[in-house]
Amino acid sequence: MSPLSRREFLSLAAGAMAAAASVPRVGATASPAGPAQSLNATARARGMRFGSAMSFAQLSDPRYCELMRTQCGIMVTENALKWPQTQSGPSTFTFGHGDALARFAAENGLLLRGHNLLWQKSRYLPDWVRHYDLGAQPAKTLEKLLYAHITTEIKHYPQIVSWDVVNEAISARTGALRETLFTRDLGPELIDFCYHCARAAAPHAQLVYNDYMNWQPYSRAHRDGVLRFLEGLRKRNVPVDALGIQSHIGANPRHPDPPLGRPQKMAWRGFLEAVTGLGYGLLITEFDVNDNGLPSEPALRDRLIAAYARDYLDITLSFRELKDVLTWGLVDKYSWLQHIAPRADGTPKRPLPFDSHYRATPLYFALAEALRTAPAR
Ligand code: G3I
Repeated sequence: MSPLSRREFLSLAAGAMAAAASVPRVGATASPAGPAQSLNATARARGMRFGSAMSFAQLSDPRYCELMRTQCGIMVTENALKWPQTQSGPSTFTFGHGDALARFAAENGLLLRGHNLLWQKSRYLPDWVRHYDLGAQPAKTLEKLLYAHITTEIKHYPQIVSWDVVNEAISARTGALRETLFTRDLGPELIDFCYHCARAAAPHAQLVYNDYMNWQPYSRAHRDGVLRFLEGLRKRNVPVDALGIQSHIGANPRHPDPPLGRPQKMAWRGFLEAVTGLGYGLLITEFDVNDNGLPSEPALRDRLIAAYARDYLDITLSFRELKDVLTWGLVDKYSWLQHIAPRADGTPKRPLPFDSHYRATPLYFALAEALRTAPAR
């Protein structure tokens, strides 16, 4: 992954210096589980909820479970409810991992989000779907497959309060709808079909469109595309309640020189105004910070990460339509970011609110402060 540019680094550093005073040092006030008030309690005081992704494997880690219990009010299934994990054939459903996570959530008073019913990138479809014999009426066959998958999964989890029905449908490069075997035969209406199926199966759940458009200039085509897409869904009365903003912020491998500054922040605010202006709710669904390119020294790196995150969160949380903030995991060592494009210095990344020894980091306090100072909902 390319490092952050010098310009971005300097901008981050300036922000970090300004924020340093308000970011407590790790260890000064942090117990292993953070300060007395949990992130969820802080969020609740502002009419929001805080939560995190959890994987099936993490159920076997008592310290991770403890953080989920003490810090979160809502859990999202990281991989367990994706199509390849839940359906190994047209009529073979396997909900074992999802059920175990759902049980943990119920036993610990956590609400549950489902992620995701259709990931609009062909490589994330199950192999058997990609190679399915569509017969003489491919559109009908595809609708049947989608209907069975969406309806069976949603009905299996009536307790799920919020579903990522469609994930990443818009090309980040062009802003157009991504093409898959589904769009080939069903056209763009495939998206409408998914949401109508989901609404029929879950009349009361929040139905979310989830994507990774972000505040960087390189993401403009993506933001514009998502906005057009959401406008179209509104016009056609498709039952989508909210935009899930994934929020994998920080370094990006394909765009090494992302300048930070006022225009970028205004563009992000403008995007969120446009989305909420269409009547959509907002939620942060997969927050983490990629620190590739930041200095090795952990204390300095942590301060830079925290300052960058705080900037982003302050703008995004200023929208009262945003009710949920979820991180994509809680503990650094489990982050998906550890497995892609390692840092040049070989050290592990520090993208999440708890380090690999389960200690709260400055990013934890940046999240806490952003939640605490957000306008009340
Ligand atoms: O469980 C197997 C393991 O048995 C095997 O040894 C290993 C070998 O690679 O693979 C393991 O499965 C991996 C799984 O993560 C669990 O670690 C898959 O290969 C890998 O593809 C999968 O990656 C997940 C990825 O989505 C694709 O589904 C990441 O954990 C998950 O964090 C990531 O999450 C996505 C969101 O769904 C959508 N937004 C972006 C986000 C990050 O890419």
